[in-house]
Amino acid sequence: MHISELDTPAVLIDLDRMERNIRRAQEHCGRHGKAMRPHIKTHKIPQIARMQVEAGAVGITCAKLGEVEVMVGAGLREILLAYPIVGEAKLRRLVRVAQEANLTVAFDSLEVAQGISEAVGRYGEGSGREIGALVEIDTGMGRCGIAPGPEMVALCRRVADLPGLRFRGLMTYQGWVTGTAEERAAKLQTEDERLKRILGDLAEAGLETPVVSGGSTPTLFQSHLVEPITENRAGTYVFNDVNTVSTGAVTLDDCAMRIAVTVVSTAVPGQIIIDGGSKTFTSDRSAGPGEVTHGYVVEDPELRFVKMNEEHGYVKRDRSTKSYRIGDRLHVIPNHVCVAMNMHEEVYGHRNGEVVETWPVAARGKLR
Ligand SMILES: Cc1ncc(COP(=O)(O)O)c(C=O)c1O
Repeated sequence: MHISELDTPAVLIDLDRMERNIRRAQEHCGRHGKAMRPHIKTHKIPQIARMQVEAGAVGITCAKLGEVEVMVGAGLREILLAYPIVGEAKLRRLVRVAQEANLTVAFDSLEVAQGISEAVGRYGEGSGREIGALVEIDTGMGRCGIAPGPEMVALCRRVADLPGLRFRGLMTYQGWVTGTAEERAAKLQTEDERLKRILGDLAEAGLETPVVSGGSTPTLFQSHLVEPITENRAGTYVFNDVNTVSTGAVTLDDCAMRIAVTVVSTAVPGQIIIDGGSKTFTSDRSAGPGEVTHGYVVEDPELRFVKMNEEHGYVKRDRSTKSYRIGDRLHVIPNHVCVAMNMHEEVYGHRNGEVVETWPVAARGKLR
């Protein structure tokens, strides 16, 4: 089937572009002695996670326990859960899923560490299976992560001594590293020095840190600037989107995901309505400079996708020289591909427009 025959809205994945993204990231990290552990929150599809592992990733990263369960159910075994696990309902599931996978969890407090450690004792049924532990540190994001310093060293020490947990090192997230390539490089230089100091403190305290997990998509091809990082958790790179293009780190040609939509109304002069709104794209605004729109219309960059209701996309055509009729199809690159994916039940993988895969988005909506 050709993509033009698919009903809309339809998420289209250009498999050649996606494979090129996977390959290029893997090659860059491999060349600089770093592992890839891609974040699957971007695609939420086990088949794509498997392709990333087959390309050389040491494992995958998930944000939610529900994503971990889906991925383990599909046979993936090396998983980092980059999110603090809190509450009995989750702890029970965590220990259960850890029986089937090599699981590592990141957190930034003794409360969470103790909760997991005790749950391993309570629900692990004497399996002796430990859960890997990364202490999340805040090197600039200001979200989760303990501040570097004596308290952080003390937390790592306590974690290393807790039963049921195996202290493996540190996690940080370079999502705060923004700006031009030069600005990002300068920030990464600071990050390099900071992480070296932190690792020095831990070594002095007698703690080994075989894993220092970091990275992001905009900094992916600059990841070699931060020597201490051992593994890169970039996620968005697999598809890219308007936001990653706006960082200058990639081009529109690197965007592997598009959403096909149909023109359903031309009644209002100067405007067309497409059959996708905030329930198709989400309302994530573009992060780059300039006019805020809701996505990039591939066929006609003069079209401006300026407003959304749930099921209606308002596209201004006053700057465009082309004319549009009801039934015309357009393809839109979303601002933020990760949240858009979470809205869809299935995606179509194609090569040169021929659909060769239909994949359920198996981990969509797994928010717990
Ligand atoms: C903890 C963590 N690691 C990795 C990533 C992946 O970063 P990116 O979206 O830049 O690929 C994210 C993204 O939100 C994240 O929150």
